[in-house]
Amino acid sequence: MSDLAPGNKSPRILSGIQPSGKLHLGNYFGAIKQHIELQDQGDCFYFIADFHALTSLQNAAQLRENVRDVAVTYLALGLDPEKVTLFKQSDVPEVTEITWLLSTVSGMGFLERAHSYKDKVARGISASVGLFTYPILMAADILAYQSSLVPVGQDQVQHVEMTQDMAAYFNNAYGDEVFARPEYRLDKVPKVPGTDGQKMSKSYGNVIEIFASGKPLKKSVMGIVTRSTPLEEPLDPEGCTVVELFKLVASPDDVKDLELRYREGGFGYGSAKKVLLERIDQYFEPYRNRREELLRDPGFVDSVLDAGARRAREEARRTLDRARRACGLV
Ligand code: ADP
Ligand code: TRP
Repeated sequence: MSDLAPGNKSPRILSGIQPSGKLHLGNYFGAIKQHIELQDQGDCFYFIADFHALTSLQNAAQLRENVRDVAVTYLALGLDPEKVTLFKQSDVPEVTEITWLLSTVSGMGFLERAHSYKDKVARGISASVGLFTYPILMAADILAYQSSLVPVGQDQVQHVEMTQDMAAYFNNAYGDEVFARPEYRLDKVPKVPGTDGQKMSKSYGNVIEIFASGKPLKKSVMGIVTRSTPLEEPLDPEGCTVVELFKLVASPDDVKDLELRYREGGFGYGSAKKVLLERIDQYFEPYRNRREELLRDPGFVDSVLDAGARRAREEARRTLDRARRACGLV
C-alpha cells in the first residue's frame, strides 16, 4: 500500500460514497473528515455512488433526497468545490461502458469471491446481477479517472484489490497500459461506537446524526447505554461509550478532566452525557449553520455537481477513448 509519497505532488485521489441515508458520527469521524483533509494533498475526485445505491435502494424520491443530502453534507463540513471535483456517479455514463469492457476480461470465479456478494448470499438474500457485478462498476469508477489513491474503510479493500487485477487483465489482454494501477489508503481511525456500544451503523439503529440538534440530538445522546454503577461510586472511563465519543469532539485536556471526574465518584452517567451533548452540539454548530445556508441555495449545490460532472466526464471520456482504441472498437 502506498501513501502520499513526497515528490508525487498531485496524486489523483478518488473515493465514492453511497447515498444510503442520513450520515452519522461514524461516517464523519471514520471517513468524511479524512476525505476533506485530503483535499489539500492531491487532486481529489469524490462522487456520490447512485448507480451502486440502486442495488439496495429502489425508491426514486428517497434516492434523490439522499444524493442531495450527501452533497450538502460534504459541502457543509468543509469540502471546497474549488479544490475537489464533486459529482454524481450517474452523470458520467462512460463508467458503464468501461464496466462492460472490464466485464469481458473478468472471470466468474473471480467475482464469486467478492465479499459484497458472498456475504449477502450467505445471509439468504438473493443477489441481482447488479450486485454480482458491483465490484466491476467500482473498478470502472476508479480506473476511469486514472486514480492513484483510493481512501476507503477496511470493508472496501478487497474491491480495490480486485480493481488492480481487472486493470492488469485488461492491460495484458490488449498489450496497452490503458488503466493505471490504484492503491488503497486505509482511513486510520478507530471504530466509532454507536449509542448501544456496538459499531455505529445505520443498520443497527444506534446512530447519532451529524446534523441532529435540539430534542432529537438530546434523545440520542441521553439514550447511550452505560454500565449501572451507583452514583456515589467511581466510574470506569475505560470502554465507556460516552468517553469514547467525547474523545472525538473534545480536546485532550478536557478528556483528562472528564476521566478525572469519572474516577472521583459522585459524578453520574447522566451528568457525563450532558457534558457530551453540549460538546457535540458545539462541535457541529458552525457546520449546521453552513448546512442551513446551503439548503436555502439549491442552485449552488446543483452548480457544484454540474461543474464536477463536466470535469469528471472529460477525464472518463479520455480513458474510454483509449480503452476503445486498445480493443479495436475504433
Ligand atoms: P453504515 O454502516 O452506517 O451503513 P457505511 O457502510 O455506508 O455506514 O459507511 C460509509 C463510510 O463510513 C465507510 O467508509 C465506513 O468505513 C465509515 N464508517 C461507517 N460507520 C463507521 C463507524 N462506526 N466507525 C468508523 N467508520 C465508520
Ligand atoms: N462501494 C463503496 C461503498 O459501499 C462505494 C464506492 C463505489 C466506491 N465506487 C467506489 C468507493 C470507488 C471508492 C472508490 O462504500
